[in-house]
Amino acid sequence: MPATFRVGLLGHGTVGAAFAALLEQRADAIAATTGLRPELAGVLTRSRGDFAEILDGSDLVVELIGGIEPAREHVLAAMRAGRHVVSANKMLLAQHGEELWGTAREHGVQLRFEGAVAGVVPIIRVLQESLAAAHVERIHGIVNGTTNFILSEMERTGAPYADALAQAQALGYAEADPTDDVTGRDAAAKMAILARLAFSTPVHLDQVPYEGIEHITADDMAYARELGLALKLVGSAERVDGGISVRVHPAFLYAGHPLASIGGPFNAVTVESAAITEITMSGPGAGGPQTASAVLGDVISAMIPPASTPETTASLPIVEDVRSSFYLHLEVADRPGVLAQVCELLGLQGASVKSVVQKGLGENARLVMVVHPLPESRFFAAVRLIGRLDFVRATPRAIRVIEEEFV
Ligand SMILES: NC(=O)c1ccc[n+]([C@@H]2O[C@H](COP(=O)([O-])OP(=O)(O)OC[C@H]3O[C@@H](n4cnc5c(N)ncnc54)[C@H](OP(=O)(O)O)[C@@H]3O)[C@@H](O)[C@H]2O)c1
Repeated sequence: MPATFRVGLLGHGTVGAAFAALLEQRADAIAATTGLRPELAGVLTRSRGDFAEILDGSDLVVELIGGIEPAREHVLAAMRAGRHVVSANKMLLAQHGEELWGTAREHGVQLRFEGAVAGVVPIIRVLQESLAAAHVERIHGIVNGTTNFILSEMERTGAPYADALAQAQALGYAEADPTDDVTGRDAAAKMAILARLAFSTPVHLDQVPYEGIEHITADDMAYARELGLALKLVGSAERVDGGISVRVHPAFLYAGHPLASIGGPFNAVTVESAAITEITMSGPGAGGPQTASAVLGDVISAMIPPASTPETTASLPIVEDVRSSFYLHLEVADRPGVLAQVCELLGLQGASVKSVVQKGLGENARLVMVVHPLPESRFFAAVRLIGRLDFVRATPRAIRVIEEEFV
């Protein structure tokens, strides 16, 4: 009989229950490959289990409670007691990562967290191990399945945002309270973690500006199609002027971009570096069984060789004013000279127009354009002035466009 490897499980909800079931199902196969048979040493929820007892009887602790406390206290206590920890808790890592990784290093234990970012897509392992030698320049990610599903539905059916959100909730892709997802906060936490790993510099959730998808309209989708663009909630982490920029916002992508075709609740991450050019990985971004599979993969890795998140080696500044290309949607009165005046104000700030679509007549015309990259502060200065022109009928709407094209 192989020796037993005891796993303490904190949390038995969507992911925790799926993990417990998968552990039992895969125990024999894991014993055959590792020589150790994993077994649940105890389960903690709000109504059952005792943390101290579970810790005492475990070789490794899996944290699937979510949120900050008591998850943080339990993870720290487990590592201080010499236990490896596996967690899928992005909010905890994006806000207390340095404390947790430091504690793991100090106590010589592993803290693994593949399930925290992009579900089953193995981006954490790839950044920490496979790409450890690559100097990563940029990461783009669709790292929230709920918003990707909503945007895909809006594009597919022409439905407004509220209807697509209701559909996502009915199908279980969005929670009853979808705030963290639709505001971009969930994606921002994941991008903070990816940036920390890619650039070896501390990145806290508070340093990641995020914009959600609540203001996207069916109109945007229709114009995007005409301009050959796909709208996604994109997380970006990149080196800029000796610092880094990490952020989340809706962005238009040209059809050739590897993220443009990622539809439904899927996630995908593109990593760029001179050494590797570009790689993209995609797959289911959430779900109990899917995330449980990533968590159990981490448990198996922890049963074999050691791995840890090294100390940060840089302290890069966060760059706020980056260059972006924009889609600009204006509701205008259709009079002679409208386009010329808009272009003049853009031109004064150094913006040049790449493409324009003009629709409608009289007082209800639409002017939709894409402008080439320029510093964001200059673009928004132009938009503020454009918003004050007397023929502009509503607040101008601007969405970033990711200009890169891949072959
Ligand atoms: N759901 C997904 O698809 C997904 C995907 C990727 C990552 N994650 C991450 O995985 C983690 C778990 O998510 P989930 O969706 O499985 O959450 P969930 O369904 O809400 O389950 C949470 C579990 O934690 C327990 N719990 C909550 N507060 C506790 C406390 N104070 N003490 C002890 N136990 C407590 C709950 O106990 P009761 O059973 O008593 O309520 C429940 O069993 C989160 O960090 C989440 O971000 C989830």
